[in-house]
Parts: sequence; C-alpha cells; structure tokens
Amino acid sequence: MSHAYQAVGWNRQKRLYDTVLGIGVLLYVGLFVGIGSLLYPTATAETLIIRGVGSAAFFLLHVVLCIGPLCRLDSRFLPLLYNRRHLGVVTFLLGLIHGTFGIVQFHSLGDKNPLVSLFISNLDFFSLRDFPFQQLGFAALVILFLMAATSHDFWLRNFTPPVWKTMHMLVYVAYGLLIAHVTLGELQSEESPLLVVATGAGLVTVITLHLLAASRERKIDQKKPDPVGIYQILSDTKGHRERTWMIGDSAVDVLTGRNAGVRTCGVTYGYATSTFKDAPPDFLIDNFSDLEALIHD
Ligand code: HEM
Repeated sequence: MSHAYQAVGWNRQKRLYDTVLGIGVLLYVGLFVGIGSLLYPTATAETLIIRGVGSAAFFLLHVVLCIGPLCRLDSRFLPLLYNRRHLGVVTFLLGLIHGTFGIVQFHSLGDKNPLVSLFISNLDFFSLRDFPFQQLGFAALVILFLMAATSHDFWLRNFTPPVWKTMHMLVYVAYGLLIAHVTLGELQSEESPLLVVATGAGLVTVITLHLLAASRERKIDQKKPDPVGIYQILSDTKGHRERTWMIGDSAVDVLTGRNAGVRTCGVTYGYATSTFKDAPPDFLIDNFSDLEALIHD
C-alpha cells in the first residue's frame, strides 16, 4: 500500500532551526568571499564563491555526520537532531551551487558540452597528481541529491524504514568520495596544506565519535534486559518515567522497558520482531512517525 504525501509540519522550533542555519550559512559565505577578496585581490569572484560555498557544504556534511553519535553520547545535543534532514538538504544545495560554478568556471569555455567535458577532459585515473578529482565531487553530489530528494517522511513511509535507512547510509559513500575530492584537489592546486590538515582532522573527529558512540551503545546493549541504560538516560535528561517510552524491535527491548517501569512500543520493521511473541510490547507501530499520534493519545 502506498502512503499519501503530507506537507512538512512547520512549527516554531523548525523555523528557528532553519533561520539560524540560513543566517549561519549566509554569514560564513559572505565573510569568506569578503575577507578572501581583501587577502587575495587577484582571485575572481567565481573562485571565491566556489571555495566558500564548497567548504560550507563540506563543513555542514561533517556536522550532519557528527550529530548522530554526539546525541548518543550526550543528550544535550538532541535539539540538533530535531531537524537534521534540513541540514542535509542545505548541504546538497550548497554542493549544487559549488559544482555548478565549478563546471562553468572550468568546463564551459571549450566546444564541448560542459557536463561532457567534466567527464572526458581528464581521464588520468592512474595518476595521483592529475587524478580527475572533480568527477568524484559529481558522484558525491548525485548521492546528496538522492538523499535530499527522498528526505521527506513520504518517502520514508513508501520505501519502508529499513530500505530508506539503508539508502541513506550512502551518505558515508558520499563522504568518502568528498574526502578524496577535496584532498586530491588541494594536493593538485599546491596551495597551503591547511585544508588537507583540516580535512584529516574532520575525518578523525567523525571516526572517533562513531567509535565512541558504538562502544557506549554496545556496553548498554550487553546489559539488557537490565534497565541500567534507561535509568542513565532518565538521569541525563532529568526525564520522568511515566512519560518515557522504550521503543525497540525485540523481546529483550520490551523486557528492558518493563524492568524500568516505562511503556513499551515495538516496531514491526526491525531485525528481531519475531521475538515479540515471547514478550509482546504495549503498542506496536509500522512507521516511526506513527509514534507521535500514540504519544499524544
Ligand atoms: C559537480 C560536482 C563538483 C565539481 C565539478 C566540483 C569542482 C571543484 C573544483 C574545481 C574544486 C577546486 C577549486 C579551487 O581550487 O579553486 C573543488 C574543490 C572543493 N570542493 Fe568540489 N566540486 C563538486 C562537488 C563538490 C561537493 C558536492 C562538495 C561538498 C559537499 C565539494 C566540496 C569541495 C571543497 C570543500 C573543495 C575545496 C575548496 C577550496 O579549495 O577551498 N565539491 N571542487
């Protein structure tokens, strides 16, 4: 069965989130281009825009990737998770502006179609010094587009959460392609190695946060159905047990919630749903978005 489209439900928090994001991006790109033109008076406006918008997109992608593990490590980051999909869409739009300027700047002066030129003007795949790094950026942009275009709940419901989630894991492929795009591009331009160092620092941060969050989660998972993990979250967030839900895809999750004295909700799209017969949850949902109606009932 397919699900009908419902427009994004705007509220004060979402507006605030997007306003801060919009002002932040405009301020960064404005300052980048303004200060860049003072420091490098010979640089063209196009070059400064390509660099300013590209680095903004790349930085935002790091933020998108770090929000998940940060929230699992410290609940104070949870407000950032709220509208993460909008961050992803803005990352794509900035990448699109950067890529378009890049193609116009470097591929529109010849007699070939600029997009064709992007793919055939450099085929030096076996040379690190001349590798066609722009094609890597294009591949990453296609993935970012796919994810931005399917970010609405409409697609989440129609694809089903497991398929949607697997598809959105492609963000890590896009990230890998962009690490190579930026590193190879910088090495070829032979300018300051600052961006290569910053890219390395970003990569180490992303990997470290993911490893720390995974290790913390494994420790809590190993203790289930001991409710220690739920107690920890309740204490971190100063939450109330009677307003707390344990949501999971297995009998162990249900037992953990029950042992903590909170309501339990099973999801039908997980990996161990067949175990619900041993410990049925208080409620069962097919889509994560159904939870909102349940909680407000
Ligand atoms: C069609 C796709 C793309 C093309 C043709 C392209 C092209 C380029 C070019 C020509 C440069 C070198 C600029 C210079 O040194 O002046 C560059 C650098 C860069 N690109 Fe891309 N790019 C694409 C996609 C992306 C995407 C999707 C992102 C990020 C989300 C990105 C992030 C960057 C960054 C951070 C740099 C280094 C900026 C700097 O030199 O300060 N690119 N790209």
